[in-house]
Amino acid sequence: MAIYLNGSFMPIEDAKVSVLDRGFIFGDGVYEVIPVYSRRAFRMAEHLKRLQHSLDGIKLANPHSESEWSDILNELIQRNEPEDQYLYLHITRGVAKRDHAFPVPPVAPTVFVLSNPLTTPPPELLQSGIACITVQDNRWLRCDIKSIALLPNVLLRQAAVEAGCAEAILIRDDAFLTEGAASNIFVVKDGKLLAPPKDNLMLPGITYDVILELAAANGIPHEVRRVSKAEVFNADELLLTSSTREVLAITTLDGKPVGNGKPGAMFARLHKLYQTFKREVMRK
Ligand code: PDD
Repeated sequence: MAIYLNGSFMPIEDAKVSVLDRGFIFGDGVYEVIPVYSRRAFRMAEHLKRLQHSLDGIKLANPHSESEWSDILNELIQRNEPEDQYLYLHITRGVAKRDHAFPVPPVAPTVFVLSNPLTTPPPELLQSGIACITVQDNRWLRCDIKSIALLPNVLLRQAAVEAGCAEAILIRDDAFLTEGAASNIFVVKDGKLLAPPKDNLMLPGITYDVILELAAANGIPHEVRRVSKAEVFNADELLLTSSTREVLAITTLDGKPVGNGKPGAMFARLHKLYQTFKREVMRK
């Protein structure tokens, strides 16, 4: 498997990073996950825009222009076997003597890109849906930054796994829905799709955007606004989206069925639209 590290492509076995890297020491960095369909990065421009937003959020200069990123990502795609991949981009503030404050003068950032095979959810999972738990969103107030410091998300996802569930749905201030530990969450009520607003409390998902665009283009009623905890528990359907899981139905919440406990009509419609979109737009 070929990776990219600081200007060179190499086998992953040869990739080495200093123990003084600020990513390792402080979690001082940001990342992106970009799906690749038929060897083409999906919505590269949007992902690179979100990366810029994350870098701005941590006051780290972007080490590459958009066209340099595009060259690096495309070359890495070509150097790896699978037709469908997902790219993991990881940029840290670099290697410096341990001090919380930024190094002066700045040091070269560490830039790492990994390609993994992209496996989309199997048919069984599409048919059954997934089980989730709700948990308190105890993260910081800049969840719009795709920070590599993911310990809260790690602990929240692990709580889900220990409950035999696939994802944790995060409720802020015991009052409203933000997102999943590594996904965005939609609520469906009376035929309407409800999505939390893109603010500082959630990651602006690229898949989230695709779902809302598909809803708008196909006359599906939808509303972007705060979604209360009560609306989550009284939902007819709950949906999860992410680059790697696409769109999934959540059919069990805290051990109880969501709606009738089966993937519903909104899921069926959006999943079909997403697959058509992938075939007709992403793969061309
Ligand atoms: N995570 N919210 C959080 C906290 C996430 O980590 C992710 C994605 C999303 C969905 O964003 P998108 O649709 O752009 O993938 C929302 C990636 C997949 C990860 O960390 O592996």
